[in-house]
Amino acid sequence: MSQRIKKAVFPAGGLGTRFLPATKVIPKEMLALVDKPIIQYGVEEAIHSGIEHIIIITGRGKGAMEDHFDHSFELDTTLERRGKHELLAVSKQVASLARISYVRQKEPLGLGHAVLCAKDLVGNEPFAVILPDDVIDAEVPCLKQMMDVFEEKGGSVIATQTVEGPAISAYGVLAGETDPSNPRLFNTTGMVEKPKYEEAPSKQAIIGRYILTPRVMGLLEETKPGAGGEIQLTDAIRALLKEEKIYGYNFAGRRYDAGDKFGMLEATVEFALKREEFGERFRQYLKGLRL
Ligand code: UTP
Repeated sequence: MSQRIKKAVFPAGGLGTRFLPATKVIPKEMLALVDKPIIQYGVEEAIHSGIEHIIIITGRGKGAMEDHFDHSFELDTTLERRGKHELLAVSKQVASLARISYVRQKEPLGLGHAVLCAKDLVGNEPFAVILPDDVIDAEVPCLKQMMDVFEEKGGSVIATQTVEGPAISAYGVLAGETDPSNPRLFNTTGMVEKPKYEEAPSKQAIIGRYILTPRVMGLLEETKPGAGGEIQLTDAIRALLKEEKIYGYNFAGRRYDAGDKFGMLEATVEFALKREEFGERFRQYLKGLRL
């Protein structure tokens, strides 16, 4: 029997340079997608998947995230006084979403280093990693789909999406074979970071959801800075692959890269169209643009 996944690590210590100037003062993870900070989508996905403890890796200037998931005494009392009960409920609900711990990454030394910062809180159990700028729209939460695979198979699971053509060069890509018994499952034998299109070993691009066994923490401690001088999570996972089985999982759903300006625009349009209160009005507005 594999252990149940109870903890999810959210690396949010990066600088968000792709979104400058918006991210000069505001953490990228706090940028609003329609009306919710992008990190809240990930936190809700984790909770809906059954995660009990969320660990957010923060950095300098990232305090807004802690305030967001806490009570806001001034806001709540003002809303109460004004009789704005629905808004008060929204504000209070955010504060009671989850048990959240924060670890500060003193320097943005890379995604691998950010995950390693959670070592003491994660302890000796398998855990999830959610990159908050990957926002996922799925009927069954992406992490829940992966947790089901982990429970059945017992090895680390990496979420993937199929990427056709030269766009694959922007991703980490898995090498290996699709499992004969399940077209979404990929038996991984290797991984390559941002390969040339002609050299990509498959169309399975790694996206920002992982379930990892605790052994990866020990391997991260031994990982030297790699591409861009950063401690790369993929380097440690590649080392893990030498010791343990790792699966790719082509999740059912759609992923948006909300850490990128164009990805954020796509997500904004599609999430807005789905909103009951103004989706239809927004559809009519877009139609009226006669593009
Ligand atoms: P990204 O490369 O997407 O984030 O890292 P970034 O470095 O903030 O963004 P750009 O490229 O400059 O625009 C993926 C995730 O890893 C976190 C980021 O916050 C992001 O959620 N990260 C990255 C850390 O927590 N610490 C780091 O040292 C680097």
